[in-house]
Amino acid sequence: MAKQSGLEEVVAAQTKLSDIDGKLGRLWYVGYDIHDLATQSTFEEVVFLLHHLRLPTQPELDDLTEQLSGEREISGFLQDLMPTLARQTSPMSMLRTSISAASAYDPDGWDQSVEANLRKAMRLVAKTATLLATYHRLRTEQAPVLPNPKLPHAANFLNMLLGEEPDQETARALDITLVLYADHTLNASTFTARVIASTLSDMHSAITGAIAALKGPLHGGANEEAMKMLEEIGDPDRAKAYVKERLGRKQKIMGFGHRVYKTEDPRATHLRRLSKELGERAGDARWFEISERVEQVVMAEKGLYPNVDFYAASVYHSMGVPTDLMTPIFALARMAGWTAHVREQYADNRLIRPESEYIGPLDQHYVPIEERSETGAETEAAS
Ligand code: COA
Repeated sequence: MAKQSGLEEVVAAQTKLSDIDGKLGRLWYVGYDIHDLATQSTFEEVVFLLHHLRLPTQPELDDLTEQLSGEREISGFLQDLMPTLARQTSPMSMLRTSISAASAYDPDGWDQSVEANLRKAMRLVAKTATLLATYHRLRTEQAPVLPNPKLPHAANFLNMLLGEEPDQETARALDITLVLYADHTLNASTFTARVIASTLSDMHSAITGAIAALKGPLHGGANEEAMKMLEEIGDPDRAKAYVKERLGRKQKIMGFGHRVYKTEDPRATHLRRLSKELGERAGDARWFEISERVEQVVMAEKGLYPNVDFYAASVYHSMGVPTDLMTPIFALARMAGWTAHVREQYADNRLIRPESEYIGPLDQHYVPIEERSETGAETEAAS
């Protein structure tokens, strides 16, 4: 298929937020190597970095942490909406709808100033965790757990979701995954957000569109599909036959391949390590072992590397995260990058409006409806 069909290699925006070298398998946020951020930084610090284009001082980080924890509660309107969404919709549809609905009660309303958009961005980052956890508690007939202002973003999310404070290693593992997922240049959902922002539509609309784009299995949905596959395989010894059979049927192996990376996705390196560590600590290394075997077979058969979503599946599973919340957690992290991209787009905006190449029929002759036969044959293009 022509590269043009997927905008491959087309530069559609300039950004100071993140950069990828697909050949070398490198990723940077604002010039900082993802390996340094994954091992030394926190999600809160990365939120600051993406929104201010520099690392925070300690007082600045404290302020941001306080701001996020102060914005975690959701409006009465969303609290009322949530039981219906928990009954009727899938998690990503809930998130899309509730982020759109959140605009109605955002204290900054339709204010599009730089300051208002930064406040909206922080609210979106903070409240996404509460929306996901509340939704899950309600759909499993458990009482929602209120946000704990003393806990960092990742630990607080697990506390609200599972009803107990996570141990430090688990909270840190989630925090690392949020750092890894926080931004990734002009992926489909970020591009969607920037296209919407370029019309000067509002922050909530741009993020609602981004969530809709992330929902698809070729983008964010891949971590859930990867987990379903691991469960179907069930035993490391079945991995080889399963993968070969699936490839034989020309089916994709979810969590493998990437439009930009032609070598190992640097995020996968950290997630593979976390998958092993969490599995061993939980006394259940099965998911890691199946994943490792799948990776070996896909490499041998197709020469494809795992992307960020493959090992994320077993990492989240080991934390007790239900499979259908894995893509929403991607959204929870990417909220940092999406909102930063929307603000970057507003700061130097030009309407994004590409061209299309017309490949339909030419010079058609209009036939009035009463003269058209039942088959409509005379309105078909001469081929
Ligand atoms: N499993 C099996 N084969 C795969 C594959 C996978 N996960 N990913 C790519 N391929 C194969 C394709 O079948 C195609 O082979 P062909 O040339 O023989 O037809 C070739 O590799 C190119 O794939 P293509 O889908 O055109 O690449 P792309 O750049 O358009 O797509 C992805 C990139 C990510 C959409 C694609 O690799 C994919 O669908 N992966 C699975 C979903 C996933 O993990 N998404 C998360 C991305 S972070």
